[in-house]
Amino acid sequence: MSKVTQVSHPLILHKLAYVRDKNTGSKYFRELVEEISMLMAYEVTRNFDTEEVEIETPICKTKCKMLAGKKTAIVPILRAGLGMVDGMLRIIPAAKVGHIGLYRDEKTLQPVEYFCKLPQDIAERDVIVVDPMLATGGSAADAITMLKKRGAINIRLVCLIGSPEGIKYITEAHPDVDVYIASIDEKLNENGYIVPGLGDAGDRLFGTK
Ligand code: PRP
Ligand code: URA
Repeated sequence: MSKVTQVSHPLILHKLAYVRDKNTGSKYFRELVEEISMLMAYEVTRNFDTEEVEIETPICKTKCKMLAGKKTAIVPILRAGLGMVDGMLRIIPAAKVGHIGLYRDEKTLQPVEYFCKLPQDIAERDVIVVDPMLATGGSAADAITMLKKRGAINIRLVCLIGSPEGIKYITEAHPDVDVYIASIDEKLNENGYIVPGLGDAGDRLFGTK
């Protein structure tokens, strides 16, 4: 069964309030999403394996812990997931980045695939899928299915805002995938938007519409 971790650090909640504000323009919105993603990266990497290594300080030899060498891939769901990549890379700079292109059909709300380019050794990597919004959960579930078809086995999902419906959908569709989310909002409205949410994340990031 998926573990759902709500990352409600005060700094994240503070920044999320500005992200939600309709008066926040694209430049500040992008900066905030990047900063929140950096803070989320700290949480999503919390249970990464470490191994003991011996190093020499200027004083003596000692044993320390370092990451056990498992490689990471960050996979944004285009477009809005792109806004989370740089923040994640600040904390995990050696990660490779794959891209999955999906958009939600405005009428059916079903995800439509248009792009997939992943690191060739995706099966050996810890994969972190990023998308600010988990509304119906359809896009994230499809992206994870695409990853699994290409061999990925160790997958985590990081979102900023989700709905109870989206959480239920993704945890039932992919019970092996742990979810990290800053806020689980009230509900979806009749147009499939998260309430209160932040509106359309892609449009707000890139200044479209
Ligand atoms: C948004 C968002 C998610 C998806 C969430 O993308 O970034 O990918 O909707 O909705 P769902 O959980 O109901 O699938 P959108 O389809 O608007 O595309 P964009 O990122 O290109 O704007
Ligand atoms: N996609 C968004 O960008 N926002 C929502 O509220 C739902 C889907």
